[in-house]
Amino acid sequence: MTTQSIKGFADLFAPQSDTYTFIEKTARQIFQRYGYEELRTPIMEYTELFCRGIGTETDVVQKEMYTFPDRKDRSLTLRPEATAGVMRAYIQAKRHNIEPVSKLFTTGPMFRYERPQKGRMRQFHQINCECLGASHPRTDAEVITMLTNFLHEIGIKDFEIQINTLGCSTCRPQYRATLSQYLRELDQNALCEDCRRRVETNPLRVLDCKVPSCKEHTAKAPQLPDHVCEDCSTAFSVVLELLHANSEVSFVVNPRLVRGLDYYCRTTFEVVSQGIGAQTSIAGGGRYDGLVQQLGGPDVPGIGFACGMERLAMLLPEMTPQRPDFHIVYTDEPKASAMTFALSTQLRQAGFIGDFSHNGGSFKSQMRQAGKINARFALIIGENEVNTQSIAVKNMDTSEQITVTLAEITTYLQDNLQADEHGESNESK
Ligand code: HAM
Repeated sequence: MTTQSIKGFADLFAPQSDTYTFIEKTARQIFQRYGYEELRTPIMEYTELFCRGIGTETDVVQKEMYTFPDRKDRSLTLRPEATAGVMRAYIQAKRHNIEPVSKLFTTGPMFRYERPQKGRMRQFHQINCECLGASHPRTDAEVITMLTNFLHEIGIKDFEIQINTLGCSTCRPQYRATLSQYLRELDQNALCEDCRRRVETNPLRVLDCKVPSCKEHTAKAPQLPDHVCEDCSTAFSVVLELLHANSEVSFVVNPRLVRGLDYYCRTTFEVVSQGIGAQTSIAGGGRYDGLVQQLGGPDVPGIGFACGMERLAMLLPEMTPQRPDFHIVYTDEPKASAMTFALSTQLRQAGFIGDFSHNGGSFKSQMRQAGKINARFALIIGENEVNTQSIAVKNMDTSEQITVTLAEITTYLQDNLQADEHGESNESK
């Protein structure tokens, strides 16, 4: 029996891998416009970082982490998200001494032991942005605007941004107590098992429980935006006003949006989209003032978000593979073979994309292969071409064939491929 991949871990061949590359490339372009720099962090950290950062009461820490001892019995965890690791890196590198505001983005695999289903994997990929050192709500609006800008740029238009305020360390304890009291007075049997526990341990999480009976029975629960302090309320209004003024960003206030990680305060948001099955959240984030300090760093505010690449990819059409410029078709004879090899190297060094039939074969089968991969030109090298140091060039779209000398082939392809591209772009205008 052959070894299979681990459940919930996927191999991504083209064109799927092309979609991921496209998403990452576009993210880099957009985020750089907003002043973000790429940070690459390790995929493994000491377990305590996630316990302290994400919160011991969260589902992620309680049930979903891949945690194991290393050979010296130190507890390590495969990162379930990027934020905690980015904070650790930021504190360790003392970035706050280098720049007042750090804008960092990171991409890569994350690991959560969840039940795999459509749009939910155990190894999944996030694009993650963090802005550290800026507390004004205009930064919140900027982060949400950038996320919208990025989603539009990759071609995702049909989504809703849900936004809420979670209050701060001044007002949230009071709200939490009020909510706990309200929840305790409800018929506990109407709540799911998780929520019965959460009433005491993490009452805010009851608000965004997806179980219908929990939703129904807590429908009249006191709402966060009505209970936050004046500072939080003013900050929230500024975020909403700035977003309102930007016609590109469409959002709704969802007063029950809580999010599953403990570090959030004030502005939190989630981007939801239908059409990807039960998992509707394609991105989520929020402000986390206090997290850097909680992890042993200075008192630096922060806000950020992460998008799930699997879910973004599900909303995008399949990528069409890039069309090769050439495919070399040759006779299986040493001189033709050597000429083929030299020509392919020369053309690739000149920047063209193309290949030759690695296993040789008849002219007919090699030409079929050139057609199958949709090459623009078949470059044919037979005995005659070896003798005259020339190439029979067949335009695969028009079937026209001419002979070009070896010395002129690069220029010929440059001129003709450029002409082709101009033709195409004119047509698409
Ligand atoms: P999160 O909501 O846990 O937030 O994850 C962000 C996104 O990752 C989700 O919206 C979803 O698209 C994707 N995602 C999460 N779990 C899975 C999974 N098992 N399979 C596929 N996709 C998944 C965070 O991780 C925060 N660190 C975001 C953040 C950054 N907040 C502030 N800065």
